[in-house]
Amino acid sequence: MLNIHRAVLDDAAHIAQVHIASWRETYQGLVPDDFLNNLSVERRTAQWAASLLNPADEYHNVLVAEVDQKIIGFANFGNERENDANYRGELFAIYILKSSHNKGIGRKLVHKVAQDLLTRQVESMLVWVLAKNPARRFYERLGAKLLREKQIEIGGVDLLEAAYGWADIRQLANGGEWAENARAANQI
Ligand SMILES: CC(C)(COP(=O)(O)OP(=O)(O)OC[C@H]1O[C@@H](n2cnc3c(N)ncnc32)[C@H](O)[C@@H]1OP(=O)(O)O)[C@@H](O)C(=O)NCCC(=O)NCCS
Repeated sequence: MLNIHRAVLDDAAHIAQVHIASWRETYQGLVPDDFLNNLSVERRTAQWAASLLNPADEYHNVLVAEVDQKIIGFANFGNERENDANYRGELFAIYILKSSHNKGIGRKLVHKVAQDLLTRQVESMLVWVLAKNPARRFYERLGAKLLREKQIEIGGVDLLEAAYGWADIRQLANGGEWAENARAANQI
């Protein structure tokens, strides 16, 4: 049974666990092993707790996905961080444990992120993804367009990142309901 809701302070440790487990599952071979081995659940828990506690923190907004009351994924979002001329919202992170991939949970999380941003009059959104991460196909599938690329450094290694954008997230926000209604009516 899937339940998506806003994270509360008590979720910090579980978010940190999913965050680090998913980083290791996703980035092995892309990001140096030393960097992945040195990730600390305790440090991450403290960071997430600080963000969740402070509504003014740029990483404050987190949605968690629970299956049978256990957090298996999350999405973190807010205002775009680099003063982009066209895109005002940003999906900072979306991580789901591998065992829960390809069940439509990522799509539902992104729909809910879009719904939340719209309530704050934010109508566009971008996301940065490592160029070599197959997750970029997920964003394409959800209608995002490739915007640009940039170099970043992780663990002492230069990596290429790609930005994907949704110029209008209203459709994305409605997508969930549209798909659920259509499925219920056996149209898809
Ligand atoms: C990327 C991620 C969030 C997608 O979530 P998910 O729950 O597995 O995706 P969904 O089941 O909602 O998939 C939605 C659609 O995208 C497609 N898709 C998802 N991941 C894909 C991939 N890696 N390659 C190609 N298509 C993909 C699905 O096939 C589905 O297509 P459909 O419309 O034909 O059904 C999840 O795989 C994940 O957490 N990956 C590891 C962490 C990561 O890379 N995060 C992004 C960092 S920027």
